[in-house]
Amino acid sequence: MKSVSLISKLAVAGLAFAVSGTAMASGGHALPYSYVADVDNLPSVQRGASAFMGYCSGCHSMKYLRYSRVGQDLKIPEDLLKANLMFTSDKVGDQIISSLSKAEGAKWFGQAPPDLTLETRARGEDWVYSYLKSFYVDPTRPMGVNNLVLPGASMPHVLWEKQGWQKKAEAEHHEGGEAAHGEKKEGEHAEAAGHGHASPFTLVQQGTLEPREYDKFVGDIVNFMAYAAEPGRSHRQSLGIKAIVYLLILLGFAYLLKKEYWRDVH
Ligand code: HEC
Repeated sequence: MKSVSLISKLAVAGLAFAVSGTAMASGGHALPYSYVADVDNLPSVQRGASAFMGYCSGCHSMKYLRYSRVGQDLKIPEDLLKANLMFTSDKVGDQIISSLSKAEGAKWFGQAPPDLTLETRARGEDWVYSYLKSFYVDPTRPMGVNNLVLPGASMPHVLWEKQGWQKKAEAEHHEGGEAAHGEKKEGEHAEAAGHGHASPFTLVQQGTLEPREYDKFVGDIVNFMAYAAEPGRSHRQSLGIKAIVYLLILLGFAYLLKKEYWRDVH
């Protein structure tokens, strides 16, 4: 009996580990925002794919991924894929390669935009989410913006139409009076949904999206990028859980069999 309860405890621990596997991948560090990607949210990953192709693939490639695979995994029919997602090629078997060459990228931005297939695994989902939310106005930079997460980034704020423009909160501090600042801070507190601390930015000009909608928009992109970094993840996890459930059922039968076997002996 004792060994059975130990085994079932181990099985439950294994199940918990399988489920939390994704959350554990990101370490603790001082990023302004945290985010755990949801690759099983198909509509979100589809929206993210469309946003990525529209706003990012002009500069960034995802060379380890083919359009056909994206279409298959995200259940996007070929005609829709061609019409809405394929801006850099018209062959579905092609890899997602940016139309911007490395040399051009280096010439224009000082450094070629990196391939983003494995970005969420290299940097973390939190990091990419924070990066896309952390462009702020900085007239000293060539692009007029800087980034809190990647200081001195040479990428322009490509999502400015959606987010609008934000300033670093400290910059406000010197301009505004003490009382006004105090009030503002409380307002920001409410904005920083669920994060216990105030946003490091003040929105000076809102874009076409409300801050909350922008968060969702960026979340969609990160969900798509997390899918791209490991296209089989969703399938593999569900297979792992099925395998553990199967083993638990088997354990139940083994236990019944053991009881049956020893009944006459006791
Ligand atoms: C106009 C070209 C351009 C567009 C469009 C663009 N980027 Fe970039 N991106 C760059 C450049 C250049 C860098 C390199 C920045 C640096 O290291 O200074 C970069 C860097 C990045 C990085 C950081 C890479 C790293 O690990 O250092 C991420 C993440 C990223 N881009 C995501 C995106 C996403 C998501 C989009 C679409 C919403 C996008 N980019 C659109 C040019 C672009």
